[in-house]
Amino acid sequence: MGGMALPAPTLPHPVRIAFANARTGAPYALESVDDASRFGPHAAAQVAAVCSEPLIYERLFRQRLDGHPYDATNGLGFLTWAESHWRENTAFVFVITHPLDGIVGALDIKSTNRDEAEIGYWLSARHSGVMTNAVRLMRDLAWAAGFRALFAVTDPDNARSQAVLARAGFVHEGSMTRNGETYWLHRLRGV
Ligand SMILES: CC(C)(COP(=O)(O)OP(=O)(O)OC[C@H]1O[C@@H](n2cnc3c(N)ncnc32)[C@H](O)[C@@H]1OP(=O)(O)O)[C@@H](O)C(=O)NCCC(=O)NCCS
Repeated sequence: MGGMALPAPTLPHPVRIAFANARTGAPYALESVDDASRFGPHAAAQVAAVCSEPLIYERLFRQRLDGHPYDATNGLGFLTWAESHWRENTAFVFVITHPLDGIVGALDIKSTNRDEAEIGYWLSARHSGVMTNAVRLMRDLAWAAGFRALFAVTDPDNARSQAVLARAGFVHEGSMTRNGETYWLHRLRGV
């Protein structure tokens, strides 16, 4: 007996979905990083510029990089890592692009665990107003791909990120511990 294993969720790609900044109406796009050459020769430097912004660097990268700067080599590493996950169907990484500034943010579904896949994101402070809409689009792609629930973790003091998740429908379910640190756990169940 036993249920038949469901195949891993897959996402048709390339993905390119146009959407607007909720505050300014400016045009952006959510794009899969399945072929980073699409983003041009400055993509790695654009990723590095955003990830070096103090808010993002302190939250996400200072510890991981042991205090070293996030540079274009790290940016290239991010893009290459993203491409390999699309190729192997093991995670789904997107960037948010602006017509002039190029890559201004990123978000991902970190596994193919259809019942509890983690998501994450970062966005340049200069482009505030787009992350909620981007997470909503990625969430809808996740349901279409066969995911049934998503979760995210936030630092307890990261109110901006918690607000993004609440606007996208995630419910704060309590706290969890990872590597000795306490995080808030947010979950969204599919339709
Ligand atoms: C967390 C982070 C992505 C949030 O970005 P953000 O710009 O605050 O998020 P949004 O673009 O969704 O929202 C910005 C504003 O637009 C408004 N907005 C966004 N989408 C909206 C919508 N669809 N309808 C109405 N208002 C909307 C929000 O209410 C918010 O307004 P406020 O600043 O007056 O509160 C960003 O701060 C960041 O990258 N931080 C560093 C890295 C990080 O913390 N990553 C997450 C780790 S868990």
